[in-house]
Amino acid sequence: MGHPFLEIHRLSKTFVLNGRKLPVLQGISLEVQEGEFVALIGPSGCGKSTLFNVLMGLVPADEGEIRLKGEPVPHLQRRAAYMIQKDLLLPWRTVLQNTLLYPEILGHDLPRAEARARELLQEVGLAGFEHAWPYTLSGGMRQRVALARTLMSGLPVLLLDEPFGALDALTRRRMQQLLLKLWQHYQPTILFVTHDVEEALLLADRVGVLTARPARIREMVEVQVPRPRSIAQEPLLRLRQKLLQLLESEVQEVSP
Ligand SMILES: Nc1ncnc2c1ncn2[C@@H]1O[C@H](COP(=O)(O)OP(=O)(O)O)[C@@H](O)[C@H]1O
Ligand SMILES: [Mg+2]
Repeated sequence: MGHPFLEIHRLSKTFVLNGRKLPVLQGISLEVQEGEFVALIGPSGCGKSTLFNVLMGLVPADEGEIRLKGEPVPHLQRRAAYMIQKDLLLPWRTVLQNTLLYPEILGHDLPRAEARARELLQEVGLAGFEHAWPYTLSGGMRQRVALARTLMSGLPVLLLDEPFGALDALTRRRMQQLLLKLWQHYQPTILFVTHDVEEALLLADRVGVLTARPARIREMVEVQVPRPRSIAQEPLLRLRQKLLQLLESEVQEVSP
């Protein structure tokens, strides 16, 4: 057996604000296999987005190591695509132009990229909207563009930070199904942050529960249930109970 695809070893980060220290990550370690879908849940403010910012090299870590296929890397920039709740579409670019952002930044062949972008937009249900402006789209449609743009990067790792957090329940459910379809098709390795236990259980191969700040991994839970899943399935109901209890115990530890 070779190395795990992505290894995170004892990542730690303390912010210093006006001379006061705020420890946010405390020795986060995680191994992810190639093509695996790992969800991370944790109390609000525990450090989930900070973990992704550190992984992307946007925030320097104090300690720790990241390895990709066994090789130490400083961060995952140009190795991972990052998507957050706010879709961050560029308002002055059409849907198609937004989808072509990564190929432009990465210096890929643009005519070929455009052909792929059109295919991907079709796959996410946006055929016919290539030349629409972002402001004319619904929240769900904007997240579809963001998802297509993320996949257009062709990068092997996707870091998704509460990507569907701002959507209504039905749109969210459809986006989850779309994400699973795209994951099965393109087989990226996914780290998916959510505060929604059910979302984690419907999507992921494993769910990591983070502690209250400073975050470390409290427990990893395997979800060995074939997809498509329904939250009403017995093993998922049991896991849901377990995850909720873990989360609640973390939230209690920080409140007075
Ligand atoms: N760049 C920063 N400088 C100082 N403090 C920060 C910075 N980014 C995040 N924090 C603090 O770190 C803590 C964790 O934030 P965050 O990672 O966004 O939590 P989560 O995503 O789990 O809700 C919060 O208390 C937040 O205020
Ligand atoms: Mg966050």
